[in-house]
Amino acid sequence: MNSYRFFILSRLFFACFGFIGMQQLHAQTTAHAGAGKFTPIAQWYDDKGVAINAHGGGILFKDNVYYWFGEHKVAGSAGNTSLVGVHCYSSTNLYNWKDEGIALPMSDDEQSDIVKGCVLERPKVIYNAKTKKYVMWFHLELKGKGYSAARTGLAVSDKPTGPYQYIRSYRPNAGKMPFYPKGTPDSDRVNTTIVKEQDKFFMRDFAGGQMARDMTLFVDDDGKAYHIFSSEENYTLHVAELNADYTAHTGKFSRVYIGQQTEAPAVFKRNGFYYMIGSGCTGWAPNAARLFRAKSIFGPWEYLGNPCIGPNSDLTYGGQSTHILNVNGKKDALIFMADKWEPKNAIDGRYIWLPITITGDIVNVVWKDSWDLGDLSK
Ligand code: DGJ
Repeated sequence: MNSYRFFILSRLFFACFGFIGMQQLHAQTTAHAGAGKFTPIAQWYDDKGVAINAHGGGILFKDNVYYWFGEHKVAGSAGNTSLVGVHCYSSTNLYNWKDEGIALPMSDDEQSDIVKGCVLERPKVIYNAKTKKYVMWFHLELKGKGYSAARTGLAVSDKPTGPYQYIRSYRPNAGKMPFYPKGTPDSDRVNTTIVKEQDKFFMRDFAGGQMARDMTLFVDDDGKAYHIFSSEENYTLHVAELNADYTAHTGKFSRVYIGQQTEAPAVFKRNGFYYMIGSGCTGWAPNAARLFRAKSIFGPWEYLGNPCIGPNSDLTYGGQSTHILNVNGKKDALIFMADKWEPKNAIDGRYIWLPITITGDIVNVVWKDSWDLGDLSK
C-alpha cells in the first residue's frame, strides 16, 4: 500500500471508530440522559449536553409533559445569589430533559424585588384550571439583606415554560391567627397572654406578616392549593391556604411541628393521608430527613421519624428534600427529589432522585446507585 492510500484509509478508520468512541464516552458521561435510568449525584445533562441547572426545584405534570423548574446557579459561592433566574426543562419520560430556557429572568432594575443579586430559592409551579394560568411561588430574599427579608414571591404565566410575569413579594398572613385543627395538642396552640418561647417570632411578625422561607406547593384533589413554608426564623412550618386563583393567601393557616426547625418541605397524598418529608435546619449541610403524616393538610401532623434507611441515611445520603413527584398520578409511584448542595461552587450542586418505597403504610426512601421507573412501588 502506498503511503497516500494508507493515509486515506487511516483517516477513514479514525473517522469511523473515533466517532463511535466519542459516542461511547459521551454516553458514559451522560449516565442520566437517554440512559433510561436515574443515577443519583452523577452529572445529569440536558438535550444540549449541558448540566441541568434547576436546584431546589419542583415538577409540574401537564398534558403528559413534565416541567422541571429550579434555581439557576452560577459558579463559585456567589452563585448562591440569583443572577440568572428560574430555569425550566421539559420531559416526557423523566430521563431526558429539554432545555426550555429561563422561565422567570432576574431583573436589571435595581428597584425590582427580583433584581439580579437577590436570593430566589425553591420555585414551584402549579396550574390553575379556572384561570388557565401557571402560577409560580418562591422564597425571596431581597438583594443585600442576607436572609432577613424572608418573603414569598409570585409570578404568573400563560404557558408552562414562561415567560412568567413577576407580580409581587410579601410576608403572608399579616394580622391573622392560625387555625388549629381538632386534635392539635394544647402545647401547640398559641397562648396570646403568655407567649411561649417558640411563639415569640410568630407574635413579633403578627402585624407585618409571617416569615416565609423554604417552601413547597400542594394541590389537593378538590383543586384547593396550599403553600407550605418554613416560618418563624425557621422554627415552625406553616401550612397556608391559597385563594381560588392560587395568587394570594386566604389567611387560613396552621402551624406545624412548632419550634422544631423543619426546612425543605415536600408533600404527597396517599390513601387519604397527607405525607410530608422535610429536613432539619443546618444551612447547606445535610442532616436527617423527617417524615410526617396527617389526615388533614392543616394537621395535626404526626412525626414518624427518618424515612431514609441504610448507609448515610442519617444525612439523607448527602441531600436535602425539595419535591416529591407522583409519576403520572399513579398510586404509590413516587419519586423523592433532593439537592446535594455545593455552596462553594453552587453550579455543581447535584440531584438525588430516589424511589419512595411503600410497604403497608410504611414509607421509606432507600439509596440506589442506579434505578429506573420500573423500580417504583406499584
Ligand atoms: C437551607 C435551605 O433549605 C436552602 O434552600 C437554602 O436556603 C440554604 N439553607 C441556605 O443556607
